[in-house]
Amino acid sequence: GKGEFDHYMLKEITEQPTSIAQATEGRYDSRTGAVSFETVPDGTFSDVDRVVLVACGTSYHAARYGEISLRRAGIDAVALLANEYGVAAPPVDERTLVVAVTQSGETADTLDALRRAGESDATTLAVTNVIGSSAARDADHRLFIRAGPEIGVAATKTFSSQAILLTMLARRIADETAGTRSPPAKADVAEARSSSVADRWSDLDRLPSLVADLLETSSAESIARRYRDDRAYFFIGRGLGYPVALEGALKFKEITYEHAEGFAAGELKHGPLALVTPETPVVTVFTGTEDAQTLKNAEEAATRGAPIVAVCPDGHPALDVADAHLRIPDVDPTLSGILATVQLQLLSYHAASLLERAIDKPRNLAKSVTVE
Ligand code: F6R
Repeated sequence: GKGEFDHYMLKEITEQPTSIAQATEGRYDSRTGAVSFETVPDGTFSDVDRVVLVACGTSYHAARYGEISLRRAGIDAVALLANEYGVAAPPVDERTLVVAVTQSGETADTLDALRRAGESDATTLAVTNVIGSSAARDADHRLFIRAGPEIGVAATKTFSSQAILLTMLARRIADETAGTRSPPAKADVAEARSSSVADRWSDLDRLPSLVADLLETSSAESIARRYRDDRAYFFIGRGLGYPVALEGALKFKEITYEHAEGFAAGELKHGPLALVTPETPVVTVFTGTEDAQTLKNAEEAATRGAPIVAVCPDGHPALDVADAHLRIPDVDPTLSGILATVQLQLLSYHAASLLERAIDKPRNLAKSVTVE
């Protein structure tokens, strides 16, 4: 049951310290950074030279998160909407790994893409929360996110676990294929605030307690109250902050029924800026890579009178232009997007709660979409 919580969604948001710990437990060595998965034998990925991720909705945003982590690890990767895969599938061969990201393992569009990939020479992998699911059965390999049951239609804890697992998968594929690839572009390495494996993995150790702190101190409820009567809500971010912004907007529109859109921060000036007014708060996600540019994009919106809600650590330069602050701890950029996502989940939850929406069962939506 929901226990002390008004909604399953809030319960599931609050469970993330546990679900994140479960996702990573026994799967990485914090000293060496080595990743191992109990269901995927060593060497499975040693021939992989390209990763194609297929997914829908929130899982697609996790796939986009994974795509960026893979590319930053020097691996050719692309994330596609599963419902577009059949229309224009990219070329795949025996060195391609097709990853179906689906918490339920039953999404018809994703299963269809997985089936098509299975008929090709590619190796297939399902990243899912449900052990006996169709995706887990149909794929060549499977990786379980161990998030526990998720009842709320809006996916929350499954997103964070998928994003973390895909980050770990990137590391694992990079290790298994080291020597067969050219090193990642210098720019990618230089851009990370602290890119050492040791730092990243010690931050992963701390992630459950950082999420627990964030849940206790979040100002999401008062921010939701402050902007509850606005016209539309925009979410922008760059790099890993972009899929986080897309997910923030999807969650917001799905449970509040308000108009919300996610944009790549740099795209704002290429069109969406025409929508920006004093009645459109712009939630800006800073993940620690190229934040200075993202700040310029937030300033473009602030100049048009839009309130800026900055998702960033304390002491961040964005706070000079921000009207409101959703605080995240200063961690490795690979993981800060996960913490930002938790803040955005809380923002959507509280906004929907103030509007008295059917949070656990939004109109017109179902938990698992088994039709194409
Ligand atoms: C949104 C949401 C959906 C699902 C999508 C795919 O909160 O939950 O967008 O993410 O329908 O579902 P799965 O992951 O089960 O394939």
